[in-house]
Amino acid sequence: MSSLTSPVKVLHVSVEMAPLAKQGGLGDVLGALPKSLRKRSVDARVLLPVFPGVMECVERNKYPCSLLTEKICVALNWRVYSANVYRVDVDGVPVYLLDQPELFTNVNIYPMSLSRMSVMPFAFLSMAALELPGCIGWKPDIFHVHDWTASILPLILRWHKHYRALRSEYDVVFTIHNLAHQGIVDPSILTSWGLTRDAFSIEGVEFYGQANLLKGAAISSDAITTVSPHYSWDIQTPEGGFGLHGVFSNLKGKLSGILNGIDYDVWSPKTDQLLPARFSASDMKGKEACRKKLTELCGWEDDGKPILAFVGRLVQQKGIDILFTALDWLMVDNCRAIVIGSGLPQYEDWATQFRRTYPDYFWCVTGFNEEIAHLAYAGSDMTVMPSLFEPCGLTQLIGMSYGSVPVVRCTGGLADTVIDYDSSRDGTGFVFSDYSTDELLKAIYRALDAYNDKSRWSELVRNAMSSDFSWNSSTSSYIDLYNGLKLGDLPS
Ligand code: GLC
Repeated sequence: MSSLTSPVKVLHVSVEMAPLAKQGGLGDVLGALPKSLRKRSVDARVLLPVFPGVMECVERNKYPCSLLTEKICVALNWRVYSANVYRVDVDGVPVYLLDQPELFTNVNIYPMSLSRMSVMPFAFLSMAALELPGCIGWKPDIFHVHDWTASILPLILRWHKHYRALRSEYDVVFTIHNLAHQGIVDPSILTSWGLTRDAFSIEGVEFYGQANLLKGAAISSDAITTVSPHYSWDIQTPEGGFGLHGVFSNLKGKLSGILNGIDYDVWSPKTDQLLPARFSASDMKGKEACRKKLTELCGWEDDGKPILAFVGRLVQQKGIDILFTALDWLMVDNCRAIVIGSGLPQYEDWATQFRRTYPDYFWCVTGFNEEIAHLAYAGSDMTVMPSLFEPCGLTQLIGMSYGSVPVVRCTGGLADTVIDYDSSRDGTGFVFSDYSTDELLKAIYRALDAYNDKSRWSELVRNAMSSDFSWNSSTSSYIDLYNGLKLGDLPS
């Protein structure tokens, strides 16, 4: 047992960190959590690969940046790869950028299909993380790895011929942001990384004859977290476990859920400079100006009909099927709707088709535009999130902050963050259970009813806007987890 005489040192390993590299919610979490940990005296730092666009973002934002003299070298696939390391200061967070132009070439970060070549960048990232302390003269107590793309680290600390000698020097926390992506690869790849044969067993990475990197990481980490408490239960069920529910039930002693927060420096209508006007729960006038700008942008005459917004990826997880079927019922009498996000071509086509069919009621942007997203939250009345599953979800939290009342399905982080208004006067939104168009429609109709009653609606909007989902309490939970590991306590 060691004592807590010095602040805990944590290296986050991730392929996304906003604003340097962002594809989804993972980027937002990495943009906020290390910053919040540092405010609480945790020496949190980040290792991030230099995928296309990262250096341009460093330059654009004028972040202080220096090239370190030492390079990192890693043996992989019977070859040695080396990388330059840059140290960048992002709002007070030291970020080590791993520059390996031969491997980190994909503009979209995530490969379309997994093969020996397409997974190699992620193996390199994990091995480089273990080489980093020697290169920078700073050694973490804990590696905190995020999602399957960084999950090779705990696996190699357990099973790699050379790196397993380092296992006792570190604790590893593995955070699952989305279990739908597990990194399932051909087992022969493991040998090319230098893993021993015993890695490929039922107690290891083996999964229906394939190698499952996320499973291996879960088994070989000291603690596993999901991004909401409810999701840590969901993954132990056949519906939410994606084939791994049994594995997670067995590991539940070291599994916990810590809710993501939102960064109110970015997502507060009181200070948001991307909006035409600012507002707060006690002075809502600015929301009218945002609505005006939004309806102008959409080319709509505003006759006071409520505006629904969906902001997110257009993928099955987000419940796009039931969303569009419900909207087809609702148009044109009940409301207007905006959809912002990109994703599967068939969903993007569906959105474009809707825009043609209902030009005065439906508007969409396929692609992500920061400014329009902010305006959509601020100018709309309801934020819809009918997800099939949702590890945490940030959209509903942002919606609440901007007084756009969430209508959500009771799953994962949505269940943890939205209180149904018809069940409680403290309610902050509308929640439905079964994944069906009918249930979604019923919830939207309940929301439309409330909207027509001015005093109920303003009570609901006030409740939503005064909910606090800042990183404070989540940061405390991570600190407790880190300290518990450092002291040698097992997480409960
Ligand atoms: C993933 C999940 C989302 C979560 C985010 C950040 O994108 O799908 O629910 O909020 O990661 O943890």
